[in-house]
Amino acid sequence: MASTHTKIGDFTFDNCLMNAAGVYCMTREELAEVDASAAGSFVTKTGTLTKRAGNPEPRYADTTLGSINSMGLPNLGYQYYLDYVIELQNQPNSKNHFLSLVGMSPEETHTILKAVQASDYHGLVELNLSCPNVPGKPQIAYDFETTEAILTEVFTYYTKPFGVKLPPYFDIVHFDQAAAVFNKFPLTFVNCINSIGNGLVIDDETVVIKPKNGFGGIGGDYVKPTALANVHAFYQRLNPSIQIIGTGGVKTGRDAFEHILCGASMVQLGTILHQEGPAVFERITNELKAIMDEKGYKNIEDFRGKLQYMN
Ligand code: SIN
Repeated sequence: MASTHTKIGDFTFDNCLMNAAGVYCMTREELAEVDASAAGSFVTKTGTLTKRAGNPEPRYADTTLGSINSMGLPNLGYQYYLDYVIELQNQPNSKNHFLSLVGMSPEETHTILKAVQASDYHGLVELNLSCPNVPGKPQIAYDFETTEAILTEVFTYYTKPFGVKLPPYFDIVHFDQAAAVFNKFPLTFVNCINSIGNGLVIDDETVVIKPKNGFGGIGGDYVKPTALANVHAFYQRLNPSIQIIGTGGVKTGRDAFEHILCGASMVQLGTILHQEGPAVFERITNELKAIMDEKGYKNIEDFRGKLQYMN
């Protein structure tokens, strides 16, 4: 049978499927469940300098075509997640993991990353430059100057494997400009995409989540074409040393196959994981392997990035 084994930087994973930051990753218990599932890895909830309660509830709703959320980065503080990934990395046969992080200001981001640099953690870090849900705080990676300034500073002191979680871009010029910024840095990966920020879902005459008068990040079916476009646009533009994690609209093996075809080395599940729980990893892995078997692909490198165009 086909293998969904993959690599990000020097780290190997038995399966290219994992959770997306924000889903099933708030507590050690949730993370342990993902770790024990067929997923190849987990990423933690984005940890901030101090713990946060996040936005008022209800702040997540499933919808006909996916989900809307305005969580507002509720989390237990970066140290909680850092302690857990260090504990796991010291266990024999541990999977490799991703630690998601961001500060509420560039200064806080640097404080956190300096602490991670000084720690025993030697795994992957994903800096979340794309949360759309904290009132008054813009999605950082829509501001190319600030993004470049943060990364310039980070790489003066941070030497461990490091990637960024990006918001969706919608304009070819923005793909060019964003890629030109990321190509200046020794990034291990970029993750495309976070939710499509600030959508509005209405039930009868009322919004379905409380924060920000109902505005929230959209995930699920709505976002797959945008996610695929972002994965492929960055695959075409980034230095080949910068790998791509594909996130957005994956609910079947076929969706994961399409992300890999667009260039993704790893694929994350958000909305569907929230709906089905960690058993979803086995289902989607089996569906992906069945497609690969049918097409004669032995591993994901046989078709990764090989999207065909029309003449
Ligand atoms: C949130 O906590 O608001 C969701 C996570 C994110 O969009 O980065």
